[in-house]
Amino acid sequence: MKAILLAGGKGSRLYPVTLGVSKQLLPVYDKPMIYYPLSVLIMAKIKEILLISTKEDINSYKRLLSDGTQFGISIEYKVQNKPNGLAEAFILGEEFIGKDPVCLILGDNIFYGLDFTEKLEMVVKRTLSVGKGTIFSYPVNEPNRYGVIEYDKNGDVVSIVEKPRHPKSNNVVVGLYFYPNIVVKIAKKIRPSKRGELEITSINEYFLKERKLKVEALPQEFIWLDTGTLKSLIAAGQFIETIEKRKGIKVGCLEELAYQKGFINKKQLIQSISKMSETSYGNYLKNKYIK
Ligand code: G1P
Repeated sequence: MKAILLAGGKGSRLYPVTLGVSKQLLPVYDKPMIYYPLSVLIMAKIKEILLISTKEDINSYKRLLSDGTQFGISIEYKVQNKPNGLAEAFILGEEFIGKDPVCLILGDNIFYGLDFTEKLEMVVKRTLSVGKGTIFSYPVNEPNRYGVIEYDKNGDVVSIVEKPRHPKSNNVVVGLYFYPNIVVKIAKKIRPSKRGELEITSINEYFLKERKLKVEALPQEFIWLDTGTLKSLIAAGQFIETIEKRKGIKVGCLEELAYQKGFINKKQLIQSISKMSETSYGNYLKNKYIK
């Protein structure tokens, strides 16, 4: 299983904040936004990752994450020249994906909740063995900002509509997708939407019509945040701060997760921690693993 981490776009809804810096590098409390989706991939035990960003920003990601060895993973990089839509990731990533199934995660999505690791492991296994795609649904207050799921009387999914004016439900598609290898072919076949983008929703519609799409419901108690607007970005930072301070844990702590998953050993963990400065992130790791 490979994964594509998407960190493109102009972040225009956050201007002027994102005029000089990529949105997914902005801080969400004590770490860059991109750490959170990257931590999901480590939780899912996916080691081969392609990070896609713009030509202006790609070097900042290389500077931040380099080739991933410090987390026991491999990170490659690819430029998306124009914001042609999320589904273009599979075309840009064709060579990287090769013959494998692939996960796509959006660089501005934050996931937090009980039993998520188990769910991810189950979905990875299923994608590898069954050849079906999996998306996740989550109930939100403003569904019209997302891909919205429509159900029939029996609760079966009948359609997925991108940012509808009149949403048919409150359940939306989160920015985490698992597909069998055929997704590359499908991505090449779909046509741009009215807003001129290759929509991930068109990919999902294809799998749905072929009866090859599983929709996993993330429970209400689960936390899924996006950070597309200034308000939601600040709220996400406050949420992470609250949880971390109250529980004495770190969310999206890549070194710790890589160690817990056995991607790096204690010596490697200590090596990268010892270089860290006395920040809340650095001190958390030092206090837990060195002192
Ligand atoms: C994208 C997808 C949408 C999905 C959302 C999740 O929207 O097009 O279907 O619900 O991500 O974050 P965008 O972030 O491009 O507005």
